[in-house]
Amino acid sequence: MANPYDEAFQKSIEDPNGFWGKAAEDITWYKKWDKVLDDSNPPFYRWFTGGELNTCYNALDVHVENGLGDQAAMIYDSPVTDTIKTYTYSQLRDEVAKFAGALAGLGVTKGDRVICYMPMIPEAVIAMLACARLGAVHSVVFGGFASKELAVRINDAKPKVIVSASCGIEVAKVIKYKPLLDEAINLADYKPEKCVIFQRPMEKASMVADRDLDWAELVAGAKPVDCVPVAATDPLYILYTSGTTGIPKGVVRDNGGHAVALKWTMKNIYNVDKGDTYWAASDVGWVVGHSYIVYGPLLRGCTTILFEGKPVGTPDAGVFWRVIAQHNVRTLFTAPTAFRAIKREDPRAELVKKHDLSNFYALFLAGERLDPDTLKWAEEALQVPVIDHWWQTETGWAIAANCLGIHQFSVKPGSPTKPAPGWNMMVLDTETKEPIKPGDIGALVAKLPLPPGTLPTLWNNDAGFLKAYMDLFPGYYATHDAGFIDQEGYVWVMTRTDDIINVAGHRLSTGGMEEVLADHPDVAECAVLGVDDKLKGQVPVGFIVLKAGVDRAESDIVKEVIQMVRDRIGPVASFKTATVVKRLPKTRSGKILRGTIQKIADNKEWKMPATIDDPAILGEIEEALEGIGLAKSRKE
Ligand code: COA
Ligand code: AMP
Repeated sequence: MANPYDEAFQKSIEDPNGFWGKAAEDITWYKKWDKVLDDSNPPFYRWFTGGELNTCYNALDVHVENGLGDQAAMIYDSPVTDTIKTYTYSQLRDEVAKFAGALAGLGVTKGDRVICYMPMIPEAVIAMLACARLGAVHSVVFGGFASKELAVRINDAKPKVIVSASCGIEVAKVIKYKPLLDEAINLADYKPEKCVIFQRPMEKASMVADRDLDWAELVAGAKPVDCVPVAATDPLYILYTSGTTGIPKGVVRDNGGHAVALKWTMKNIYNVDKGDTYWAASDVGWVVGHSYIVYGPLLRGCTTILFEGKPVGTPDAGVFWRVIAQHNVRTLFTAPTAFRAIKREDPRAELVKKHDLSNFYALFLAGERLDPDTLKWAEEALQVPVIDHWWQTETGWAIAANCLGIHQFSVKPGSPTKPAPGWNMMVLDTETKEPIKPGDIGALVAKLPLPPGTLPTLWNNDAGFLKAYMDLFPGYYATHDAGFIDQEGYVWVMTRTDDIINVAGHRLSTGGMEEVLADHPDVAECAVLGVDDKLKGQVPVGFIVLKAGVDRAESDIVKEVIQMVRDRIGPVASFKTATVVKRLPKTRSGKILRGTIQKIADNKEWKMPATIDDPAILGEIEEALEGIGLAKSRKE
């Protein structure tokens, strides 16, 4: 007999209208949809066309109206400021309605963009939901990005208003956000009309007259406003993510499909429901933060945790267990790198024993490949299911997962289990574009249409959407991940096929870093690639070839390029290693052999590429890598 997963999966593929139409009954609509799946203009599929709803209403007001007003909606737990603050659903609804009133007072209406450049404080969530309440489109920019990256996003999104705060706190360091914002606005061609600044007590930002407004003063004079009905297909947010160049892609999320899919995932993937406490230890600047700190848990009526801290150092490697015990967390979602950091400080998991984790039900990990060592350590330390699941900024929710709310499969370490319902996954040969047999590696693709909640397009860039995702394998969405599906239908995600690397669960483009390095006046040529790192999964390493005649100290140039990446992309890039080489290994047609350099750096087996221009260069590269502490094992 088919298990419940097989039944759900089959139904979702054979009858997407029936499957997602039923899930949509869980959402409150002002106007019911005309069509569940609108396939009139492939590959621009749309969900719930004709329907009208408001995402903020479904995340807050509906729960207050249904008697959950006194239940905790959000617990802000900030070890870096020694604060714990709970917002009930009524309180959060009221604060959001007031801030929405404040934004409306600044002229923000349906369809306007608002950029949020915020640390992990309640006001970040309030600002996002306030935009949703008005039908405005938020675009949250992660705080670890530098001014230049923020400027690029300002130019693309053209926000009427930017919401920010005076500072963020990184363990013990106060990071002044306001000067970064001022610099970004200086750099940007487009200028926002107003900035709303939340002043935190540890840092008072100076304000620009006629442009900057103080959050507290603005809200004090604001009147709460009601939710504005929007079309299911109207955008809820834009989230920029690294693409194959330095220009980020503005992933668009709609209102209807997103609300339906996320509410469905809470029960079916995570197996949590109304009243449960759910914690995604991520940042609102990433997709995990959008989907599972803010929208998913609130749509389901859960209590969400907003954690302003790190897995280690705030104050120690036991903080995750303290938060789980103190707030009765049922499910935790984070990136494997967080667990590697904890494991490094507390290898025998002694700190776990100090806390009562009896209500803890499951750990979900995503953002990068879950290495079997970390999986095993977490299973042994926590004695709960540890679930690897695979997803992307573009998809908004898991492509493959062990869906605990439907059927729990046994875990195969290294695999995120099976495609989630709605995801018709296949592996295609990159040359012939034909399906390849189980177990063989190829391009992981999803047969169209994608399920609801996934990207309908890129912001103002339909052509870029087609080029990046739809044209490579007509009829399929290209994930840009390579891997295979085994005989039992388990998915294995092995590597990216483009220049994206994952650094501590953060997605970065090495191409973007190369653009920065190439801008240094002494650099003739460069390559950046991700090499294995025990803590962060991968870290970027730069190789630079100097222009003829440059006779400055190489170490100075290396320091300068490292600083340039920090200034232009941000500290989040963790670009800390670069080396000068005489030449870069290339194919005869001039393509840099990044894959081979990477294998040498990671001490993996490598073959002399048949197309290499000059084999002697690889010896020089080995030497350079040894010089920066990589590729050591060849000498041992
Ligand atoms: N604002 C400003 N700066 C930030 C920032 C933010 N929101 N987030 C990170 N940074 C800075 C850090 O201070 C650090 O700067 P430094 O070079 O001056 O030290 C740099 O960006 C790199 O930060 P990070 O990647 O967090 O590395 P780390 O060494 O400070 O910490 C971990 C390592 C593993 C503890 C940390 O990456 C972590 O907690 N990861 C959890 C995974 C996660 O949240 N993933 C998101 C997707 S689920
Ligand atoms: P992001 O858009 O930041 O979520 O990054 C998405 C990319 O991270 C994917 O394309 C994968 O390369 C990688 N990734 C995310 N989750 C997993 C996972 N569970 N296993 C392997 N790789 C993953």
